[in-house]
Amino acid sequence: MIARGKELFDEHKCDDCHGMSLKGDGKLAGSLKDAWKHAVFVHDISNPNYLKSGRRPEDLFRTLSTGLDGTPMNSYAHLPEEDRWALVHFIRSKFTKEFEKGEFETDVYSFYVPYELDTDPESPVWEQAKTTNIVLRPLSARRDAVEVIRFQSVNNGKQLAIRLRWKDTTKDGFVENRGDVFRDGGAVQLALGDVTLHTHGHNEPFFGMGNRGKPVNIWHWKAGLEETLEATEDSEYSTGGVDMDALIFGGTMTNPVVKLGTTQQNTVEELNGEGFGTLTPQPKDQQNVLGYGVWEDGEWSVVFLRDMETAGKWDANLNKEEPILVAFAVWDGKKEDRNGRKVVSVWQRLNVLKENATQQGG
Ligand code: HEC
Repeated sequence: MIARGKELFDEHKCDDCHGMSLKGDGKLAGSLKDAWKHAVFVHDISNPNYLKSGRRPEDLFRTLSTGLDGTPMNSYAHLPEEDRWALVHFIRSKFTKEFEKGEFETDVYSFYVPYELDTDPESPVWEQAKTTNIVLRPLSARRDAVEVIRFQSVNNGKQLAIRLRWKDTTKDGFVENRGDVFRDGGAVQLALGDVTLHTHGHNEPFFGMGNRGKPVNIWHWKAGLEETLEATEDSEYSTGGVDMDALIFGGTMTNPVVKLGTTQQNTVEELNGEGFGTLTPQPKDQQNVLGYGVWEDGEWSVVFLRDMETAGKWDANLNKEEPILVAFAVWDGKKEDRNGRKVVSVWQRLNVLKENATQQGG
């Protein structure tokens, strides 16, 4: 059946677009247009996580039977059923990855723990907290994007910590004297105000970056500051003042061993946004999210920590009774990600459980 599928794949020129590897490297792949004459990206269909219409045999059969409207992917309903099934089995035989189960939109929890919290990604506190896998999608099409982010949260009534983990085969951090290096990063985005998800129509902010009148609070961690901070501690000399913007946004650094002011002993920057082009860092004296990231065996593990009490109206209220809307973003330095070039999740509902609360949602 698989051999027959391969023959059919050849015969019907599927490989012109998809390539024999199914990775989307066929000879026509670079020049396809959709019904609106926009360039079309042939994604890697050997990766079950990328299949928009599903990875199960019956899903693939349906995709082949109906085609994907508006795209160069036509219907193959004219082929006999057994040929469509043979193609389905051939495609599945080429799957190179396991399907990673992830939630698209779900409830996530911050569990109460009776401990002092810190930013150590390897703290034993994380062994007890439930992990939710959340699906990420690239805002611009690309290959080998980070697909899933693993979310955990704990709180002790006074502080709330979030640990995010995601796969990244290369560690791209801060490089001495190189402002043009793209660094890995991760962000937590929290909706401000009393927005709820899908309860009274659509009153949640756009998950990309908030929108007018619906601001968001962003905690943005960037790789590499850890080393810079450690170098500072070990070093005898320092330059005194430092241009934080240069450090965070990657300007030219004259001296990588810099003295950071006490309020900026931090790898996380707090910002607010109210739609594209409105992203604004909070003033230095209002930066109150701590963070730390560790890269090991192809995975980032990053902890964000904030006091639950809200310092100002631009900080998300972590003591709300209602779930807090939260979304995530990941930048991969290797792929030259920066700003809007990133992978994102849609909104999730963060339920902050108080002491004695029974665990909901399993
Ligand atoms: C003219 C180019 C072209 C040809 C020929 C073609 N495809 Fe596609 N195919 C595409 C594009 C483009 C997409 C992605 C469309 C999108 O998601 O926007 C796609 C998507 C798919 C998907 C993934 C759907 C999903 O759920 O994401 C499958 C499976 C697939 N094609 C199988 C086939 C098979 C089998 C054949 C041959 C019988 C074939 N394609 C022939 C262009 C082509």
